[in-house]
Amino acid sequence: MSTRLSRRDFIKLTGVTGTALLLVGCSGKASGKRTLFDQLQGVSFTDLPQIADAWHYQDGTLTLDLAKLPELASLGGAVRLEGDILPEPLLIVYGEDGQFYAFRNACTHAGRMIDPVAGTMTLTCCSISASTYDYQGNVLGGPAPEPLTSYPLALEGEQLIISLN
Ligand code: FES
Repeated sequence: MSTRLSRRDFIKLTGVTGTALLLVGCSGKASGKRTLFDQLQGVSFTDLPQIADAWHYQDGTLTLDLAKLPELASLGGAVRLEGDILPEPLLIVYGEDGQFYAFRNACTHAGRMIDPVAGTMTLTCCSISASTYDYQGNVLGGPAPEPLTSYPLALEGEQLIISLN
């Protein structure tokens, strides 16, 4: 068996590898610092839940089992929820003020996803324009024309109940 690569194979192999390295190297998600690549691509810094059955939705009520959501165990933590079962994508934040918040996960400028910004008690969208909001959803900066949509919630033991009606 020959170990020689054809020129075409070499270009194909190195091209794919180079692109993969470029993509990995350009995102600041691991460091928490948003890069131009992240802004262009709309990379969310907030993860989906690690445990799939940590939440359920029925008849306008979303119930989160906080015991199954380590993402919300620390102040400033957040998780995003999405899927066909939900009427819209959501961002749930355990604010640095010790309160929980639920938002429609879409910037009011052009719909990009929202992330909390550590150490500021604010949220920002993942676009280049990076509109910012406070925990009440009010616009603090950027081109967003309206506040974020937020939802009332209640904490009942280890369950966070959010009304989407
Ligand atoms: S989508 Fe947020 S500022 Fe444009």
